Amino acid sequence: MEIIIVNDYAQMSERGALAVSETVKKNPRAVLGLATGSTPIQTYRLLIEQCERGELSFAEVRAVNLDEYAGLAAEHEQSYAYFMRKNLFDHIDIDLKNTHIPSGTAPDLQAECERYTALLAQMPRDLQILGLGSNGHIGFNEPGTPFSGRTHVVRLAESTVRDNSRLFDRIEDVPKMALTMGIADIMDAKKILIMASGKNKAQAVYNTVKGEVSESCPASVLQKHNNAVLIADAEAASLL
Ligand code: F6R
Repeated sequence: MEIIIVNDYAQMSERGALAVSETVKKNPRAVLGLATGSTPIQTYRLLIEQCERGELSFAEVRAVNLDEYAGLAAEHEQSYAYFMRKNLFDHIDIDLKNTHIPSGTAPDLQAECERYTALLAQMPRDLQILGLGSNGHIGFNEPGTPFSGRTHVVRLAESTVRDNSRLFDRIEDVPKMALTMGIADIMDAKKILIMASGKNKAQAVYNTVKGEVSESCPASVLQKHNNAVLIADAEAASLL
């Protein structure tokens, strides 16, 4: 895994945006694997600005998202579908028909996971963007998830519910279940870019890079990928 340490969130985001824009300029029909959460927000803003300046086009890009909360409809303000529209898709020239995210309100979540797994098999990712959970999760693959997994329904770890409660009015409102790409799906990407910012990610960054490759730290699997890059800011890299 290539490790890039930068000063702060702003620099991490610049590197993140550069990786995406390079991928799209090289292949205007690229398939991007996208993440939600606080980590990629500024990366997405920078991409929006490039699009507004006419330097970048997503007109033919296809996007597949990592995960979605179970039970939240796409219109729900805390859903990841809503997040993606608000923070990226509504501000760039991507065709919404080319954007994909698991449905949190499908009547049969198991069948929805199977549909998504089949979709991913047809859309190999050129670049997968990841954030890092403070417990080492990627997507919503919590510690203990088998590396061989495909898209599946998960029960979120208590620490994840706590971390994500900052975006909800009350912790009780945070869904306890989600649908997520599996680790095998994530590892299928040609290139993986994982970004981490802030002190609360320092232990997870350490375990990802220096720990043994183990299901107890899902992100450690990236050590086995032949084109994985970690961009960490100084606080997130403070234990390395
Ligand atoms: C989001 C996702 C999660 C987040 C992770 C970090 O789609 O799959 O794995 O990337 O929980 O979240 P933030 O960026 O909010 O610290």
